[in-house]
Amino acid sequence: MDKIEVRGGAPLSGQVRIAGAKNAALPLMAASLLSEEALVLANVPHLADIATLAHLLAALGVEVVLDGTRGGTAPGGRVMALTARTIGATLAPYDVVRKMRASILVLGPLVARAGEAVVSLPGGCAIGTRPVDLHLKGLRRLGAELELRDGYVHARAPRGLRGATIRFPFVSVGATENLMMAASLARGTTVLDNAAREPEVVDLANCLTKMGAQIMGIGTEQLVIEGVARLGGATHEVLPDRIEISTYAAAAAASGGEIELLGARLDLIGAVVAAFDGCGVAIEESERGVRVRRRDGGLRAIDLTTQPYPGFPTDMQAQMMAVLATATGASTITEAIFENRFMHVPELCRMGAQISLHGSAAVIQGVPRLRGAPVMATDLRASVSLVVAGLGAEGETTVNRVYHLDRGYEHLVDKLRACGADISRVAD
Ligand code: EPZ
Repeated sequence: MDKIEVRGGAPLSGQVRIAGAKNAALPLMAASLLSEEALVLANVPHLADIATLAHLLAALGVEVVLDGTRGGTAPGGRVMALTARTIGATLAPYDVVRKMRASILVLGPLVARAGEAVVSLPGGCAIGTRPVDLHLKGLRRLGAELELRDGYVHARAPRGLRGATIRFPFVSVGATENLMMAASLARGTTVLDNAAREPEVVDLANCLTKMGAQIMGIGTEQLVIEGVARLGGATHEVLPDRIEISTYAAAAAASGGEIELLGARLDLIGAVVAAFDGCGVAIEESERGVRVRRRDGGLRAIDLTTQPYPGFPTDMQAQMMAVLATATGASTITEAIFENRFMHVPELCRMGAQISLHGSAAVIQGVPRLRGAPVMATDLRASVSLVVAGLGAEGETTVNRVYHLDRGYEHLVDKLRACGADISRVAD
């Protein structure tokens, strides 16, 4: 397994090109199952998760062409054409779903298009049990017959799906996406109440609309979907990755540098801009995207709680903690979305951070500087928080198990080196 070595201290300076959003590209790819015509996606990031879903979709009968090559993942793949002329299979096996929980997003489209699906339950992961009960309850409301057997969901809708009103007890990005896709081919009207409003959900709704779906209330907490008999093809550009934007902002904050994020959109990261502003980091619009620089006077402690969009994103919680580890004063971060998303804390403490956990809250007592150390990556965002911490730390940090990083960050080491970071990836 590869590892990353970072020698901290060099303030970042330069430009980073922001890739398409992983968490938009994945549901967009699943949406290709809804139509027999080609769905052409541009700005698709080159990530392990994208390749995993591409292989699963190909196994289901979707023709996947990337940058003019058939199937596979051409290096730097940017344009992906997905055509589900017919659905050849409806099984999403355990060994795929356990690797990537987003595979559950094929469930709704398969039931809607093919009238059946056998999808492995995703099981837990490093950040929590991550059930899919809201996905299943919603599909039942739409008329699907579901049976849980041997760790798989066996779903059938031989007479198609019918519209229904579904009220989510709390916001779920994946359940909103799965059910919006299923409802787009159901007979009648579906109302999704307390729907997720993340930009990635909006991006999917906009793409479905291009395919012929009838969706009202896009971007609000109530989506109304009028089912249609069939959906056509479309061409759609994946929106920029707001978590990648925010992660590089954290890297600039931790290293004390100034960088420009090309293709970044300020409107996607409102709560993140407010949090950085509060701790002494300016994020402003630039002619080619967004510019980030740490203000004089160092970092100051802030308190924040992760929330569904437009609140502070849980996918930025670990990276923000790495920044606040050297802020003056005590910060409190409350993780209100996942029940176990503090796996990075013991690793940051190995680097000298002073963090104590109190249930869903972490109290970070700022220290003048972290010290490099060998640390272990446990999940995607925890991994990158250790790299962020290493950029500002004294000495060398070695981050092991970086395969987690490959799932969500395109060319991370290259992008940071281009900004002057002393960082390299070595085979273990
Ligand atoms: C999406 O996961 C993202 N993944 C996650 O990003 C992100 O952290 C999360 O949304 C929250 O923003 C993708 O888009 C591929 P949820 P998802 O359903 O859809 C509970 C990353 O690092 N829940 O909004 O799985 C769940 O356990 C990943 O890129 C149920 O209880 O998240 C969690 O506590 C990590 N039952 C909360 O709801 C359900 O049926 C929010 O989950 C579904 C969810």
